[in-house]
Amino acid sequence: MTKLLIIGRGQIGQALANELTGFDLHTWPHDLDDLSTEALDVIAPDAIVNAAGKTHLTWCEENAREAVRCNLEAPVRLYTRIRDHNKLIGAFPGSPRHTRYIHFSSGCVWDGPYTDEGKPFTPDMPPSPACLYSWTKSAADAMLMDLDPTQLAILRPRQVYSATDSPRNTLMKLMAYPKLVDTPNSVSSVAIIARTVEHVVNSAADWNGIWNVYDEGVTTPFEIGEMLARTGLRAEPQRIEKSELDRFHTPRRVDTVLYDERFEAQVKPNNVLVELERAISALSKNISTAVTPPLP
Ligand SMILES: NC(=O)c1ccc[n+]([C@@H]2O[C@H](COP(=O)([O-])OP(=O)(O)OC[C@H]3O[C@@H](n4cnc5c(N)ncnc54)[C@H](OP(=O)(O)O)[C@@H]3O)[C@@H](O)[C@H]2O)c1
Repeated sequence: MTKLLIIGRGQIGQALANELTGFDLHTWPHDLDDLSTEALDVIAPDAIVNAAGKTHLTWCEENAREAVRCNLEAPVRLYTRIRDHNKLIGAFPGSPRHTRYIHFSSGCVWDGPYTDEGKPFTPDMPPSPACLYSWTKSAADAMLMDLDPTQLAILRPRQVYSATDSPRNTLMKLMAYPKLVDTPNSVSSVAIIARTVEHVVNSAADWNGIWNVYDEGVTTPFEIGEMLARTGLRAEPQRIEKSELDRFHTPRRVDTVLYDERFEAQVKPNNVLVELERAISALSKNISTAVTPPLP
């Protein structure tokens, strides 16, 4: 059985530990920097999934050193140890005992929603980070790819959501704001993230490099707010202009629409509205704080 080591016990790390089946799953509950070459030798994973990182935008601005350590330095150091260990034991991509590194980056390395030419962002496009968090993510991607793109897959999800009653869940965040922007965005269900991890771990070839990871199609925070309201999980949202939001929301939040031809052909994501309906319906059964919609 393929042995997977998951680092990070936040929204994505926990969802992967719950959703992935058919793997010999292990989790690393300690700091990224403490996963030593000796530990790698003992655990001997076929793939390491790095879902650890500092993700709170304001916290990252206020604690820049620790944000840079966790999001940039430690992931690059870890990849260096993985490559060194692979070399030490004579393992190369495709050979037995070779360890793949699956690193979570983010679709918010781009400030969109679209390019200046009106196109969605594809994995090869240069990043346009809008805050320190996004700088740490895009700098890590660049350094990891520069080290060696052959033993690594970088996954870029965007606005991750699930049916979980957790403040990290994008659906829970969109339940809390009275006003929502109606701007195009990609979103990623934990289900498509898990399927993508499974795909890059199991594929014999063409698994490495950067993948955008999202549900097929485009939505907006306002549209999701309306879906949540229809299920009784919030009151009808009001619209807010992005320019108005930018006046008080610091660091500035970005809108980003993703596209990835390889991802769509190989992983075949489900339609975003179908996935959202499914998650919202499951969420409504999982939480007890649903507001009663007003009578028609
Ligand atoms: N959720 C999203 O919408 C989203 C979208 C795009 C990309 N991503 C990326 O996906 C990854 C996982 O995101 P998430 O949503 O699961 O974030 P999360 O819920 O904030 O979880 C991240 C976890 O990593 C831990 N961590 C931080 N620094 C660490 C270190 N040096 N060593 C070990 N663990 C450490 C955090 O612990 P503490 O709480 O103690 O810091 C937290 O438990 C991140 O790289 C993030 O940038 C997430």
